[in-house]
Amino acid sequence: MDEAFTALRVRRAQMVADGIRLFEFARDDNAALPEFTPGAHLKVKTPNGLVRRYSLTSDPDDRDFYQIAVKREAEGGGGSRSMVDDARVGDLLEVAAPRNDFALAANAPSYIFIAGGIGITPFMSMARHLVNAGGKPFRLYYLGRNPSAMAFAEEFAGPAFRGRVVMHSDDGDPDRAYDLWPVLERPKGAHLYCCGPRGLMQSVRDMTGHWSSASVHFEDFGTTKVSTLDDQDFTLTLAKSGRSFVIPAGQTALDVLRDAGVNVSYSCESGSCGTCICDVVSAEALDHRDMVLTEREKTNKFVVCISRAKGELVLDL
Ligand code: FES
Repeated sequence: MDEAFTALRVRRAQMVADGIRLFEFARDDNAALPEFTPGAHLKVKTPNGLVRRYSLTSDPDDRDFYQIAVKREAEGGGGSRSMVDDARVGDLLEVAAPRNDFALAANAPSYIFIAGGIGITPFMSMARHLVNAGGKPFRLYYLGRNPSAMAFAEEFAGPAFRGRVVMHSDDGDPDRAYDLWPVLERPKGAHLYCCGPRGLMQSVRDMTGHWSSASVHFEDFGTTKVSTLDDQDFTLTLAKSGRSFVIPAGQTALDVLRDAGVNVSYSCESGSCGTCICDVVSAEALDHRDMVLTEREKTNKFVVCISRAKGELVLDL
């Protein structure tokens, strides 16, 4: 999936919390940028040449600039370190047109947003848009370890967000974790959006088993590649072409198929958007690691960007 990238000027680069730098990009002639909807993300070529996706934090009605916030991940692949350490005001960086895998459902009467840490970013564009445009009611639960690492806290303390935002930090102490059950116990027709560390998303997933799956939405913020030490190679066979591939530990099925020129649709590459779901023809054992399949779908569907299998897996491709 080749995308066109355009060079935009960094007009602002400012630390806004521990390890988090906020960036704004604009065209040199200040002309309007391609439009986007709340929850969209931007792909950016970092100064060290990697491509990373970051949720847009600006209000979509502000078309003269794009804003993102990047957390420096010391253990990541180097893209966020390059952005936070090396990108400066005045630099030209290549960005692709915004895309949205985490859009607000138009038919929802209200929204619940649950953000963990830097997972706050997609909710910034949503919350700013809903407040500024007088949109539907929402409530945001913003959870973090430490107040100094929670970007945008000052803005949320302001009058625009009064009564709509709950901020909670727990210093990493599980006994002080925010209890989301009272929020999630009764669905009441709201659509729920969650973005944050995989542990938070998994516990929200576990607490929303009684919700309609169409009303619960997850977004991975792009840094989590789920891999475990006991990952093993498995064999992937494509039923339609008969081609077979070994998927080594450390690579995803999507990585291998893409390298082999097999056409598979994908977007988030983190198991949260559902674009790459494939039908399973047969499998010895599936190891689902996504956030999108329902319990029923887990019997016959597979998310190729993140999930694994044991032995041989045959997909309807
Ligand atoms: S690309 Fe989004 S779930 Fe696989």
